[in-house]
Amino acid sequence: MDSGRQDPGTVEHGDYAIETRGLNLWYGDFQALFDVDLGVKRGIITSMIGPSGCGKTTLLRTCNRIIERLGYVRTTGSVNVLGHDIFGDDVELVQVRKQIGMVFQRPNPLPISIRENVLFGFRLHEARLRRVTAAEEDEVLESSLRQVLLWDTVKDRLDKPATGLSLEEQQKLCIARLLPVKPEVLLMDEPCSALDPAGTEAVEELIWRLRGDYTILIVTHNMAQARRASEECVFMLLGRIVEHGRTEELFLSPEHSETADYIEGRYG
Ligand SMILES: Nc1ncnc2c1ncn2[C@@H]1O[C@H](COP(=O)(O)OP(=O)(O)OP(=O)(O)O)[C@@H](O)[C@H]1O
Ligand SMILES: [Mg+2]
Repeated sequence: MDSGRQDPGTVEHGDYAIETRGLNLWYGDFQALFDVDLGVKRGIITSMIGPSGCGKTTLLRTCNRIIERLGYVRTTGSVNVLGHDIFGDDVELVQVRKQIGMVFQRPNPLPISIRENVLFGFRLHEARLRRVTAAEEDEVLESSLRQVLLWDTVKDRLDKPATGLSLEEQQKLCIARLLPVKPEVLLMDEPCSALDPAGTEAVEELIWRLRGDYTILIVTHNMAQARRASEECVFMLLGRIVEHGRTEELFLSPEHSETADYIEGRYG
């Protein structure tokens, strides 16, 4: 099935937010990704599914080069983000991380106030370039918290520690703090896995609302979530992409027997 690959002659690189070609990755001697060609289309939600250990987190973390924090990781192949090779010599990691925000499995707010959390990245990126006024910060703070439906809940305790919020609120805050630097892409690694059912529903609803404004690549073990919340779906197995297509098609009539086995719950 179409794995985002096209005849090179007709590829419109602008259609893809993320494009990997022949991507291999090793943790020391262990190869975790094999020849991954992935095209993540702009402006839609793409879900990534597959059994535990198949390489979903690894692939996600390669897309913003956060994986390199582990010194023993080696990659070959290419990863283009918004048309730029992120392994290129001239690439600025700060720029890459600004364009691609990441949300982790467990909410990880900084141990500072709600306000400081939301403004942290904004100050880091904008203050390097120009003077930012307090009024502008207040505006950015409010609009980011409104976008994640958290403003009304926290507006009277903006200076309280973020760690005092519920897990659901913390995860919404972790999404809110990405927005002020206007990323194009949001990578989410099982963002609901630490939440209770109500929290899961609330955060899923929020992710759906962000659709169109951002390109979202989301890893999930929840088939219902993948089906409900994504337009395209990628199925991985043992470090390879087995199938990638429209979510409805992939679930209704998968091309590969491995995909069918997985979505029917026969393993992993
Ligand atoms: N830091 C690491 N060092 C060595 N091997 C690792 C490391 N992280 C992951 N791996 C291995 O790489 C493979 C892919 O792991 P990864 O965490 O990407 O899978 P996953 O699909 O995200 O799994 P899960 O659904 O459980 O989150 C696994 O075999 C895992 O054991
Ligand atoms: Mg994972």
